[in-house]
Amino acid sequence: MEEKDLTIKREGLANFYIHTIDNSLIPSKAMNVFYNKKMVINRDITNLAINAYNELYNPDSIIIVDSMAASGIGSIRLLKECKNIKKIYINDINPTAVELIEKNIKLNKLDNTKIQIEISRKDANFLFSEIAQVNFFNLNKKIEKPDVIIIDPFGTPNHYIHSAFKAIKKVNGLLCITATDTTVLFGIKPKACLRKYMSKPLHNEYCKEIGARILLYFISRMANINNLGIHPILTFYSNHFIRVFALTFKKKERIVKYIRKYGYIIHCRKCGFRTISKNTFFDISQKCPQCNFKQGLDYAGPLWLGKLHDIKFVEDLIISNNIFKFEMKKRINKLLNLALSENLMPISYYNIHRLSEEIKLPFIPKVESIIKKIKERGYKVSRTHFDFLSIKTNMEIELIKNILLDLQKKRNLNKSVR
Ligand SMILES: C[S@@+](CC[C@H](N)C(=O)[O-])C[C@H]1O[C@@H](n2cnc3c(N)ncnc32)[C@H](O)[C@@H]1O
Repeated sequence: MEEKDLTIKREGLANFYIHTIDNSLIPSKAMNVFYNKKMVINRDITNLAINAYNELYNPDSIIIVDSMAASGIGSIRLLKECKNIKKIYINDINPTAVELIEKNIKLNKLDNTKIQIEISRKDANFLFSEIAQVNFFNLNKKIEKPDVIIIDPFGTPNHYIHSAFKAIKKVNGLLCITATDTTVLFGIKPKACLRKYMSKPLHNEYCKEIGARILLYFISRMANINNLGIHPILTFYSNHFIRVFALTFKKKERIVKYIRKYGYIIHCRKCGFRTISKNTFFDISQKCPQCNFKQGLDYAGPLWLGKLHDIKFVEDLIISNNIFKFEMKKRINKLLNLALSENLMPISYYNIHRLSEEIKLPFIPKVESIIKKIKERGYKVSRTHFDFLSIKTNMEIELIKNILLDLQKKRNLNKSVR
C-alpha cells in the first residue's frame, strides 16, 4: 500500500487515510477497507457514551476492545477524544484493514508510551476467547478483563455476543453493539429473524422499536447463559442501524428479576390495537379485545419489554454533547432528548401520516397540535426517536383518530370563518 493510493480524511479530532479507490464507492463489504461517513453519529455517540460510562459507572482507567475496527477511525477517535483509557485492542480480520490501522496510528502520532495499543488481525470470536482464556489460566495473577467491548460487524452481531460475554468484565462492563441487518429485525425477512435472533418480528409501523427490543432480548439471553444480565443504558436507531449500550451485572436475583422483562407484543392487524403480554401468544385469546375481529391478532417476540435507556446516563450524554463540537451535535441532541422523553412511555408508537391516511383526512395535522390535545385529555404522550412523525401515548387508537377528526373540524371551521 503506497501513500499515493491513499486519501486523507478528517473526523472528530482524527486524521486518517482511506484507500482512494474506496472513496467513490457506496459503503459496502466490497471496499478494500470499510469506511462509512454516515456512521459518524455512531462513533460520536460512542465517544460520549464511553466518557459518561467512565464518569458514572467505572471511574478507573479503562480497557477497550474495538473488535472490528476497519480503518481504525473509531479507535483513534477514542484515543484522542476520551479520557482515562489504559489500553485498547484494535482488531480486524481483514489484513488490508490492519495495515491501514497501523498507518493511521502513526499518522496521528499515537504510540505505546501513555496508552497500550495492541493491533491484531484475528476473528473477533477468537480474540474474545483468547482474552477470556488468558484470564482463565492466570487466576492468581491479576490480569484485567476489558471494561468496554465494541462490536460493529457487517449485518448481524448475533454470533459474536456469546464469546464477548466470556471476555468482558462481569460487573459494569460496557457492551457497545451495532446491528445493520434491519431488514431482518424489522420483519421484512421474518424467517431470518427467527433463525438469527430466535424471535418473531412484525413488519408494522413501529417495527423499528420491535427490532431494537428483539436485539436487546437476544443480547440479554446470551448474557443469561453466561450467568450474567444486562442493563440497557441507551438503545437507538439511526441511518439503518441499531446501536445498543448495555452494562453487565452478575447478581443472580437481579438476573431473575430482569428475565421478567421478557415478553410479547400483541398487535391487531385489523384495527391497530396493541398491548404487551408476559404470557406466550398461544395463552392469549385470539380475538381482538377492541374490534372483536377473530383472526386479527398477531404477535412479535419474545422480546425485551423493559426500559431502553437509563435517564441519568442519557442526561450526562446531553450535557457532554453540548460541550463537544461534533459535526452531528444538533442531530445527536434531538435523538438524545427524544430518547429521554420516550423512556417512560408505553411500548409502540403511532405514525401520524399513516393514521391520517387511514381515516382519509385531507391534510396531515401537526404532531405538536396532536400532542397538545392528548395532554389536555389527561393522557401520557411523547414523540419518539424511532420515527419523527410518530407519537407514543397510552390513549387508545380510536381516541387518537377522534382527535385527528376534531383537528380537521377545527380547521374547516377556521377556513369558513376566513
Ligand atoms: C462495518 S465494518 C466496521 C467499521 C468500523 N467499526 C468503523 O467505525 O469504521 C466491519 C468490519 O468488521 C470486519 N470483520 C468482519 N468479520 C470479522 C470477524 N469475524 N472478526 C473481526 N473482524 C471482522 C470487516 O473486515 C470490517 O472491517
